[in-house]
Amino acid sequence: MITFEGVTKRYDDGTVAVDDLSLEAPTGAITVFVGPSGCGKTTSLRMINRMIDATEGRVLLDGQDVREIDPPTLRRGIGYVIQQAGLFPHRKIVDNVATVPYLLGWDRKRARARAMELLERVGLDAGLARRYPFQLSGGQQQRVGVARALAADPPVLLMDEPFSAVDPIVRASLQDELLRLQSDLQKTIVFVTHDIDEAIKLGDTVAVLRVGGRLAQMAGPATLLTEPVDDFVREFLGRDRGIRRLSFIPAKDVRLEAAPADLVTDAAGRPLGWRADGGLLPYGTFNPERDSLRAALDAALLAANGTAVAVDEDGRVIGVVTREALDEVLGQYAARHTRPLPATGEDPRG
Ligand SMILES: Nc1ncnc2c1ncn2[C@@H]1O[C@H](COP(=O)(O)OP(=O)(O)OP(=O)(O)O)[C@@H](O)[C@H]1O
Ligand SMILES: [Mg+2]
Repeated sequence: MITFEGVTKRYDDGTVAVDDLSLEAPTGAITVFVGPSGCGKTTSLRMINRMIDATEGRVLLDGQDVREIDPPTLRRGIGYVIQQAGLFPHRKIVDNVATVPYLLGWDRKRARARAMELLERVGLDAGLARRYPFQLSGGQQQRVGVARALAADPPVLLMDEPFSAVDPIVRASLQDELLRLQSDLQKTIVFVTHDIDEAIKLGDTVAVLRVGGRLAQMAGPATLLTEPVDDFVREFLGRDRGIRRLSFIPAKDVRLEAAPADLVTDAAGRPLGWRADGGLLPYGTFNPERDSLRAALDAALLAANGTAVAVDEDGRVIGVVTREALDEVLGQYAARHTRPLPATGEDPRG
């Protein structure tokens, strides 16, 4: 566990980058620091591995003040991944990944074997190992950055906007990959981003920071979306907050109806389309056992008739959800989560 206890960082010119920050990043979980540019995310992250020392307060790693650990020892237990990967341009990919094992004095063969294993783990082809960083795409370089940070199997991983320099599609696949890795490895990860969607997707816990380095709110993603503490957090979560939070509500409670005859299926019962004059119209599916209400809504929106098709694990139709049934669950959910208007006449935005 990483603990910030009343941590303040004042730079030499008087800038207060982080102001009295107290929070805990639990072992084996992803804690995301999110907030606008200049709110002290990078400064906070670097106080963990002592690239920056706090002016006041303490940062503890499993209960021990990081200032009592000498920096090289501390950093051996902490992987660090930054934007643009920060690879050494004149070293082959395999040697970039093996950087820390070499520093730890592993023999070349063992270090390279470990590097090859990690390249595979992060989804890179072994053939890329002999290339130099400039011969890789941005997304591949980021994967190498992650592999390098994992090379000595550190319990802690610090990631500072690692995916922000790549396009949205590559970014989404890097995020999926990280979640997959994390479910195997269960590292203690502190992940910095200014992208709220990324924060919500990756974070077990999300700490929203405001400029001046003050903690605005720390909560799980669903709580953050349903109960933002103030206007700053609400604005930061944005206007799509309502839609985003549907991702956290299971679709299993929606009322299924028998599929009508105009839903055409193949022999196995998998949907082909909605029957229409002169052909089939598009349909959308979701799996009520596994998917969220957001997926059900998306499935409804894909279909011209507004009806979502519910399928089982094998993709076979088990029923449909009409727009009315969806409205019903959405209405119930809204009723549970809409707080009464404040008596003061304060503007209850959002
Ligand atoms: N070495 C420094 N000397 C003085 N001020 C600094 C120094 N490094 C950072 N700052 C200031 O501290 C504040 C926090 O900076 P920091 O880099 O931690 O923000 P950030 O949240 O990571 O921002 P970004 O999203 O743009 O990366 C900013 O106002 C920044 O200008
Ligand atoms: Mg930063």
